[in-house]
Amino acid sequence: MSTRHILDIADLAVNELHDVLALAQLPVAQLGAPLQGHCAALIFEKPSNRTRHSMEVAVVQLGGHPVYTRGEEVGIDVRETAEDIAQVMAGYHAFIGARVFKHGVVQRMAAVSSVPIVNMLSDVAHPLQALADVLTMQQQHGNLQGKKIAWVGDFNNVAGSLAQACVLLGAEFVVSTPPEYRPTESELATINSLGMGSVQYTGAPGEAVEGAVAVHTDVWISMGEESVATEKAAAFSEFMVTQQLMSKAHQDACFYHCLPAHRGVEVEASVIDGIQSRVVAQAHNRLHSARGLLAWIFQQHSAEVKESAQA
Ligand code: CP
Ligand code: NVA
Repeated sequence: MSTRHILDIADLAVNELHDVLALAQLPVAQLGAPLQGHCAALIFEKPSNRTRHSMEVAVVQLGGHPVYTRGEEVGIDVRETAEDIAQVMAGYHAFIGARVFKHGVVQRMAAVSSVPIVNMLSDVAHPLQALADVLTMQQQHGNLQGKKIAWVGDFNNVAGSLAQACVLLGAEFVVSTPPEYRPTESELATINSLGMGSVQYTGAPGEAVEGAVAVHTDVWISMGEESVATEKAAAFSEFMVTQQLMSKAHQDACFYHCLPAHRGVEVEASVIDGIQSRVVAQAHNRLHSARGLLAWIFQQHSAEVKESAQA
């Protein structure tokens, strides 16, 4: 029996991503209680509002009991190894969610865990955020196939996972960053190979947003990058999402940000607090998409258990 881990969006096939998004839109009562009688470990090495709350609530809505643990408390690779933590917790919990500094830590946990590992944000990926983002865009703009989606700002963990989800769903994802922070051609090629959509780079934010139905950004300095804050902020000064930039996008374009945001840094206050902003809907969809993903994981799991019992 193979355990499915969700470390990034690319861990889902296109039909599986559609299934997760469909489950995200079902009323809670229709999902049954797949986690009834089970607990879930949620380990956070970094602060969180949306991820902690949406995951805890989703686990409860599916009948389970979440156990929140601070990173310092378990001391990943300080008090004990990531592998020991994962193998021990797998004996107590139906799945292990982890928010970590280094993506390698969730990969190492997945390599030894008998229960699913769910990446709740690493330096490389934020799949739970990407699920909420594409769900919100589908609700706003319909089927994303062929739609242009712009990312202006740092090509970070949130951007990478969103690019994967957009390519899987057939969208045209355009990234605009300063050249020294751009994704490499090989990174773009890997994401492009995932599905029918595409990911492209431009150094010109105006070109990225032209005709886009959605304009996304995120902080320029992610958690763990504080030591490079000054140089990064200087490099990104021309990459703020302003009202002027939004005026170049599609006339029905909406603005998206995973939050927390810095008004007057990566986005003008009048954009994030204006009529084009969908950031609160995005944050609320974190709950629905997390619940959809967990319901999907445990549908797979029970199908696998049945299959192995019949074998
Ligand atoms: N967007 C997001 O992941 O928010 P938190 O850091 O508050 O969980
Ligand atoms: N890119 C940000 C996202 C926070 C939700 C970070 O990693 O800090």
